[in-house]
Amino acid sequence: MAYTVPKLTNYSAAALERAASELLSALGRESAVVKNEADWKILRDRWMARKNGILTQINDLWLKGAPKEAKREVGQLVNSLKSQVEAKVAISQLAIGVRFPKQSVPVPADWGAVFPSSEKVDITLPGIRRPIGAEHPVMRTSREMVAVFQKLGYSVADGPVIETDYYNFEALNFPPNHPARDTQDTLFVAGQQTKPLRERLLLRTHTSPVQIRTMEKMRPPIRIVIPGTVHRNDPPDASHSPMFHQIEGLAVDTNITFGDLKGTLDHAMKEFFGSSVKTSFRPSFFPFTEPSAEMFVSCFICGGSGRRGSDNAPCRPCKQTGWIEILGCGMVDPNVFEFVKDNGYDPKKVSGFAFGMGADRIALLKYGVDDLQAFFQGDVRFLQQFA
Ligand code: DAH
Repeated sequence: MAYTVPKLTNYSAAALERAASELLSALGRESAVVKNEADWKILRDRWMARKNGILTQINDLWLKGAPKEAKREVGQLVNSLKSQVEAKVAISQLAIGVRFPKQSVPVPADWGAVFPSSEKVDITLPGIRRPIGAEHPVMRTSREMVAVFQKLGYSVADGPVIETDYYNFEALNFPPNHPARDTQDTLFVAGQQTKPLRERLLLRTHTSPVQIRTMEKMRPPIRIVIPGTVHRNDPPDASHSPMFHQIEGLAVDTNITFGDLKGTLDHAMKEFFGSSVKTSFRPSFFPFTEPSAEMFVSCFICGGSGRRGSDNAPCRPCKQTGWIEILGCGMVDPNVFEFVKDNGYDPKKVSGFAFGMGADRIALLKYGVDDLQAFFQGDVRFLQQFA
């Protein structure tokens, strides 16, 4: 029986999953039997025809018919099915493209000995072009920022994405039950309640835990940069994502001062954004630094004037302030050193500074992208623009 798109009456997660999986298995069956161009066209039209193709039908029957509260989820499902169908149809076309119709192969007498399989290869056809990939804009931003610090003598450190409460919070001077923990909408690993709090697992909400992990392993002086993935319980939208990327930095030695912090970060921003940017430090709070600051750079889009172009349009990225917030920073809190004191970090003897920034946000600004989600949807048409 050929597949037909069912009407949905039940929009539970299980029912949606079942409907999606039936559709995908039909797609698999039908694309597997495509043998030639005529078959492929039938496949393409059946699934992708604007008028009454299966994609149009799921849009009409599933999405348009969905109750309000299920719209978002069904929308995402329909989008995902759409990409999967498009990909499968494209692949089926490639697959027939490389198979040469048997009857028209100019077969030399001993061809069968060279290619014993029934599928002959026509070596006179042009090869399949494999486009050269390009570095993802977020990875590129991260790598370039890391390189700025490497030139200053920093080494690269990393740590686990699944972290313990101890490294993500406690050793960074977020005591148990302290309200500062609420600033990081944490995704906790389930089923950890029987463990002592400090051993419970979570998805790290920032790259700062790697400060502690590195200080446990390396005695001072240290200078490290830590690029990495972090997670927070934020629903995805144009400026939020449950997964994003940070770049952390830490320098510890004797006599490190706030002047070192300012000088280092000012230099790094000029290297990264161009020598004309200025930096501005404003007081802030983080449990693991004291004092703490937020650092702004003068808007590298409008040059700091808050207005752009000949028509003096308001500059959106800096909200017409002329300044863009780039990172959090501060002098390492002595309470943090207490946790690694035994490895040479006596807060009476050493001092240090730390900073952390969001790589995705910087990439958005740098490339003028207006939707963070575009970075994570894997749409080649978007990504090709950075090739
Ligand atoms: N971990 C902070 C966050 O994710 C960012 C940060 C602020 C990192 C200040 C630092 C720092 O190292 O000193 O919000």
